[in-house]
Amino acid sequence: MTRLLWCTLPLLLFLPSITTAQPQILASFNASDSPWLPTQNKRLISPSRTFTAGFLPSPTSSGSFIFSIFYTSFNNTVVWSSAPVSSSSSLSISPSGVLSLNNTSWTVPSTSPPNPQLTLSDSGDLTFANWSSFKFPTDTILPEQIIPPTGKTLVNGNFSLVNATSLVFGPNDSYWSFTNSVALLNLTSGGSLMFQDGSSLIAADVDAPNRLRRLTLGPDGNLKVYSAAPGSGNWTVVWRAIQERCTIHGTCGTGMICATIDGYDDFNCLCPPGFDRDSDGQSCRRRIPLTPADDKFLRLDFVSFADGATPLSDPSALNFEGCRSYCARNASCVAFGYKFSGSQSCMLNTRLVNGYWSPATELATFLRVSRRESATSNFTGMSTMLETTCPVRIRLPVPRSDSNSTTWNLAIICSLFAVELLAGDRPEARPSMGKVAKMLEGLVEITEPGRPTIFYLNEEE
Ligand SMILES: *[C@@H]1O[C@H](CO)[C@@H](O)[C@H](O)[C@H]1NC(C)=O
Ligand SMILES: *[C@@H]1O[C@H](CO)[C@@H](O)[C@H](O)[C@H]1NC(C)=O
Ligand SMILES: *[C@@H]1O[C@H](CO)[C@@H](O)[C@H](O)[C@H]1NC(C)=O
Ligand SMILES: *[C@@H]1O[C@H](CO)[C@@H](O)[C@H](O)[C@H]1NC(C)=O
Ligand SMILES: *[C@@H]1O[C@H](CO)[C@@H](O)[C@H](O)[C@H]1NC(C)=O
Ligand SMILES: *[C@@H]1O[C@H](CO)[C@@H](O)[C@H](O)[C@H]1NC(C)=O
Ligand SMILES: *[C@@H]1O[C@H](CO)[C@@H](O)[C@H](O)[C@H]1NC(C)=O
Ligand SMILES: *[C@@H]1O[C@H](CO)[C@@H](O)[C@H](O)[C@H]1NC(C)=O
Ligand SMILES: *[C@@H]1O[C@H](CO)[C@@H](O)[C@H](O)[C@H]1NC(C)=O
Ligand SMILES: *[C@@H]1O[C@H](CO)[C@@H](O)[C@H](O)[C@H]1NC(C)=O
Ligand SMILES: *[C@@H]1O[C@H](CO)[C@@H](O)[C@H](O)[C@H]1NC(C)=O
Ligand SMILES: *[C@@H]1O[C@H](CO)[C@@H](O)[C@H](O)[C@H]1NC(C)=O
Repeated sequence: MTRLLWCTLPLLLFLPSITTAQPQILASFNASDSPWLPTQNKRLISPSRTFTAGFLPSPTSSGSFIFSIFYTSFNNTVVWSSAPVSSSSSLSISPSGVLSLNNTSWTVPSTSPPNPQLTLSDSGDLTFANWSSFKFPTDTILPEQIIPPTGKTLVNGNFSLVNATSLVFGPNDSYWSFTNSVALLNLTSGGSLMFQDGSSLIAADVDAPNRLRRLTLGPDGNLKVYSAAPGSGNWTVVWRAIQERCTIHGTCGTGMICATIDGYDDFNCLCPPGFDRDSDGQSCRRRIPLTPADDKFLRLDFVSFADGATPLSDPSALNFEGCRSYCARNASCVAFGYKFSGSQSCMLNTRLVNGYWSPATELATFLRVSRRESATSNFTGMSTMLETTCPVRIRLPVPRSDSNSTTWNLAIICSLFAVELLAGDRPEARPSMGKVAKMLEGLVEITEPGRPTIFYLNEEE
């Protein structure tokens, strides 16, 4: 069917569109085809039909159109797009050879040779004279495309890839970088990401032959390599920059805690205890405002608001009690985080932003609330984990390499810092210290852990 269409192409070029369903196919677009209106059913195709260009209706604004380059077999996978325009706009090449799309910055002046044409290559590059869509990526990089080394090279909503190294939310809130901040150069057709220093990263399906591949900054703020066998109808993620969705800034609003429920795509934005959702639902706010000297702290296990925090270096505050009283004395301190990982790190929060729950944080956040607040923390599990999981872990040889960071994290938490955690803010926990001590000596009987360590979210102590 597609083959047939391709063979009859020269014929179609000279016929007005026969049926309304069949688009008018162009192999190139020039002054005599102008203007190209968004409502016209016209398509510019690459020689072997891999890519198509044309106006698509805007998915977000009805009545608007976006001139787009997309895979012919995936008409909803756009790899380059113009600014949205109204139905009365047009793409045109003037007799003097100027290409312009009304009311957008997409204007290309006349250059030699005369009578330039707009054409689309099989690698997905739309070119006109010396202008090339590959030099102006939107949210996607294709194989053979060189990533501009500086500036916002890929943009999706409020997320951007800056300097081909860092993912940034909003104007300057950076939340991820390639290792050593080395700039990305390109994605190879075989599925490798090539870097300026000669290093590379490979996708899961590297060197699988005959695949369509692309690197896209998604609306979730993550950078992913997608792969599809032609005709499969499906894209597969074969590499992604960030594994924990909740560490992407801006995923949940101010005062919220992002918690992954099941896999990458399934997460919730939760309010901490003592907080209510704002009327817009996009942030959480203290139910009872803080008043000086009338407060207490609620412990939120494995919750981090570290991006609104500054680490405290005052040595007298490095132990848990020092950290707590430093926060209590400071009126602008809304919470503090304490890492039970051996680093004795104390983080003071003046804002509650980019909060998330993950055992990998090795952190408990102590949230300042009014003394009258009756809510209790439902982010628990550290003590439970120590009591049910440590007896098993403690007998395991501590991994020296970072090969299994879950086991490693647990081993650190269990063996070295259990005492401070259990006794630190809960005097009533002291009875279990005897157990901890035995645990440290390896005297506790080995039992199977009750359940996998990752599922402690809803447990009560
Ligand atoms: C412009 O394209 C049309 C077909 O769409 C073709 O007939 C014509 O020769 C082209 N003009 C130039 C100057 O290339
Ligand atoms: C995309 O393809 C589907 C199925 O082939 C078709 O129904 C739909 O109209 C196409 N959309 C556009 C905007 O061309
Ligand atoms: C372009 O912008 C001008 C001024 O804002 C407006 O009058 C005109 O209608 C716009 N044209 C199109 C095609 O949107
Ligand atoms: C769109 O731009 C073309 C070329 O610049 C111009 O001739 C035309 O009048 C414009 N149309 C509108 C509706 O602004
Ligand atoms: C294309 O050529 C024009 C004129 O020759 C020049 O002004 C412009 O900077 C060139 N653009 C690019 C992207 O090279
Ligand atoms: C991509 O980068 C590698 C490493 O620098 C280089 O060898 C290769 O030629 C580049 N590919 C393209 C299409 O420029
Ligand atoms: C970008 O962020 C601003 C402020 O947080 C918000 O109002 C806007 O809707 C966001 N834009 C997109 C495209 O998400
Ligand atoms: C990007 O590069 C510019 C100039 O080299 C620098 O000022 C800026 O801080 C860099 N931004 C990021 C997020 O790396
Ligand atoms: C980031 O942007 C905000 C608002 O635009 C500004 O107040 C702040 O100083 C900037 N921070 C840095 C490190 O550039
Ligand atoms: C695409 O993926 C969906 C869900 O994974 C599956 O149901 C469907 O059969 C796949 N389609 C093709 C053509 O493989
Ligand atoms: C904790 O309680 C708050 C308020 O009742 C609720 O919104 C949130 O979902 C709960 N969190 C967990 C982890 O159950
Ligand atoms: C890491 O350890 C966990 C728990 O012992 C185990 O389930 C998992 O398979 C290990 N992962 C690797 C990569 O060894």
